[in-house]
Amino acid sequence: MTLSTPFNAFRIHNDAAGYRSGIEALTLDALNPGEVVIKTAYSSVNYKDALAGTGEGKILRKFPLVGGIDVAGHVVASTDPAFREGDAVLVTGCGLSETRDGGYAEYARLEAKWVILLPAGLSLRESMILGTAGFTAALALFRMRENRQTPDLGPLAVTGATGGVGSLAVDIFSRAGFDVHAISGKPENTDYLKAIGAREVLGRDALATARPMETARFGGGLDNVGGPMLASLLAQTVPYGNVATAGLAASADLPTTVMPFIIRGVSLLGVASAGTARDIRDAVWQHLASDWKPAHLDTICTRETTLDGLPDVFRTMLAGGSFGRTLLRMG
Ligand SMILES: NC(=O)c1ccc[n+]([C@@H]2O[C@H](COP(=O)([O-])OP(=O)(O)OC[C@H]3O[C@@H](n4cnc5c(N)ncnc54)[C@H](OP(=O)(O)O)[C@@H]3O)[C@@H](O)[C@H]2O)c1
Repeated sequence: MTLSTPFNAFRIHNDAAGYRSGIEALTLDALNPGEVVIKTAYSSVNYKDALAGTGEGKILRKFPLVGGIDVAGHVVASTDPAFREGDAVLVTGCGLSETRDGGYAEYARLEAKWVILLPAGLSLRESMILGTAGFTAALALFRMRENRQTPDLGPLAVTGATGGVGSLAVDIFSRAGFDVHAISGKPENTDYLKAIGAREVLGRDALATARPMETARFGGGLDNVGGPMLASLLAQTVPYGNVATAGLAASADLPTTVMPFIIRGVSLLGVASAGTARDIRDAVWQHLASDWKPAHLDTICTRETTLDGLPDVFRTMLAGGSFGRTLLRMG
């Protein structure tokens, strides 16, 4: 591989010719600088990738960029002595497909400070079924446990349960010893949710109540949707339970009051996977490769694609027609 050898990349442009994305031939010297060059084996498709790839959401802060917020593969060259040729590595978030070229390319050039050596216990394929979605779910649990969440406080609710983050949260939380109540708008996926670890599957109407305080029925949970459902989850959380907020699939609003916080001591914890500090990032990946490793990754990986299939995956995802995780296999 030389600086001028062409390879395929799914690149996103926004210029006088409009917002567009697709496969094009690039060379390494066209990618943003970085100490570590890898041959990509896998990436994945997150909601954010679909927004970025179609222009439906404002994700990229500069153009053009290679898409893909996740990447895993083998090192082909590194100017940082921490990495050697042949090492299996991964990066999730950390500016990929936001401020620098991402993982939707046969080769990626990465900043060494964000590259993680694949932990023992995970394959490259498994690491990208997890990707940002699995990292986010595990980071939520990490934060909740730091704030004294234990299984005896009660079941953890997971909203948007059939989505990528939701599915992995269901599996990870149950692996970590919690009862999980999956909240989903897709009753046809009840068997799927039970198969990946949900103790109970509830409709979205379980979080439809509008009063500031309700009977406490959840130990806490992870919310992927925002809006009135998050407010209702807070209102139904037991004293000193934790609710982690990761997404806004329904709304960016939070129509709540201070009551759950000042009467029950409920905590609302933010989860921002992209900017997680390196020491926490390492600890979360160690959990994902061992005691929190989801037991049903093959069930949760509901679709595999290659670069040329990305536009179709984006359309399906934005139309609400997908569930579980989509893995991108580099051809
Ligand atoms: N904070 C972070 O670091 C971070 C990281 C990754 C993702 N996210 C965010 O987390 C959210 C989930 O991401 P994802 O990749 O898992 O997306 P996804 O696969 O598209 O899943 C989203 C799920 O949310 C539920 N949903 C969709 N529209 C809804 C609505 N109007 N009302 C209620 N529920 C609705 C659906 O689940 P059901 O049909 O089962 O209800 C859907 O499957 C997104 O907002 C994403 O931007 C944040």
